[in-house]
Amino acid sequence: MKAVVILSAGHGKRMKSPIPKVLHKVAGKSMLKWVLDAIDILKADQVIVVTSPELKNHAILKNVDVVVQEIPLGTGDALKIACEKLKKDIQKVFLLCADTPLLDPVDLKNLEFSKADLTIMGMEIDDLNKTYGRIECNVKGTPISIIETKHNEQAKAISVANAGAYQFSAEMLKTLLPELSVNAESGEVYATDLVEFAFAKKYTTELVLAKEENFLGVNTLSELAQAEKIMQTRIKNNHMLNGVYFILPETTYVNYDAEIGAGTLIEQSVHIGENVYIEGGAKILGFSYISDCTIEKGANVGPFAHLRGNVVVEEKASIGNFVEIKGANIGKNAKIKHLSYIGDATIGENTNIGAGAITCNYNGFEKFKTHIGKNVMVGVNSTLIAPISIGNGAYIAAGSVISEDVGADNLAISRTQQQEKNAWASAFREKHNKKLS
Ligand code: UD1
Ligand code: MG
Repeated sequence: MKAVVILSAGHGKRMKSPIPKVLHKVAGKSMLKWVLDAIDILKADQVIVVTSPELKNHAILKNVDVVVQEIPLGTGDALKIACEKLKKDIQKVFLLCADTPLLDPVDLKNLEFSKADLTIMGMEIDDLNKTYGRIECNVKGTPISIIETKHNEQAKAISVANAGAYQFSAEMLKTLLPELSVNAESGEVYATDLVEFAFAKKYTTELVLAKEENFLGVNTLSELAQAEKIMQTRIKNNHMLNGVYFILPETTYVNYDAEIGAGTLIEQSVHIGENVYIEGGAKILGFSYISDCTIEKGANVGPFAHLRGNVVVEEKASIGNFVEIKGANIGKNAKIKHLSYIGDATIGENTNIGAGAITCNYNGFEKFKTHIGKNVMVGVNSTLIAPISIGNGAYIAAGSVISEDVGADNLAISRTQQQEKNAWASAFREKHNKKLS
């Protein structure tokens, strides 16, 4: 039987952020959740997450065993506490850090293939200034210790860094964990010291290599931004392989959970936030910001559109520039092309919402619904005060303020009568010109 231990109780001081480090998101998913999802491949019999007291009741931990590390006394201390909770038949223990969101399940499988008592995941790094611990190997390439560079600058000359993922035999841990002691310089107990102890006690140790980017350790906001960049490249490459056409993919943000059909066009600088489903053949034009929405096939959104809070844009509907839509269903072939706010509304098929038309859905305390039927023409700059219902085929005259329901096929007009005063302008000008001369 095998267990996975994930360490997530560190202070994350280097982030200088009020949010616990491992809850920071990469492509919309917390770092801890990325790691929890990646370990599925190991089919572990037990998953133990070591957390800080503030995280212990977090919903993300509902299916795992939680162990609280009251004070973050180091990765070795965290592993010790976790191992007190190991089920009795566990033979193998995988140890992972929750701050490596880019890890690839295939690497975990490679770690699992090793038969050594202690296996370390290592990575060749290009930039020797990086602060990762370094793996010291003997002439045979067997790991003999891990050296933390913060205590030993010279170790930076070693280009094989500790990725922070390990496989241990449970039997060996039982013997060696009590021997771990506090590092005099930092006051912490290091899990990495196990390598030296294991080698000295003639346990077998092995090094397995992975790509550096897969184990980028996120300790600062700058590293978080690097992780986001790499994850974004992965996500968009996957979509492109599935037939999604990004004009300038590097300018577009795509959340991890976006579902986008083949044949969709996504222009530059689009933000695709959480819970977005786009059917093939839709177009999302530049600078649009969309989340929590479904966009059906053949629909057009943008440029500069903002969709949020449970929006459905049905087949071939068209949403244009500077249109904000929230909590609304936009029917087939409907058009909202310019400068509108549509909130808490349903818009029927083939309806046209003129430029600047607004639904007034909020009275400062409550929200109300607007229902607009099929084939309706809402004139430009109309103000629709919810709750309100506009029947099929109705016309709303431009500039109207509509506060009562409008029947099907009727015209509603609500604005002051136009007056025209003959030659008023020329007389006005003449009067003022005389004053000035
Ligand atoms: C650690 C390794 C380093 C490796 C790097 C890989 C040690 C001593 N060093 O350094 O060799 O190159 O990871 O990314 O292990 N944590 C706890 N309790 C604690 C301290 C930390 O749960 O008391 C957790 C953190 O939340 C984090 C993980 O352990 O998820 C690693 O801790 P961190 O402080 O990030 O270690 P690094 O300095 O990155
Ligand atoms: Mg780290």
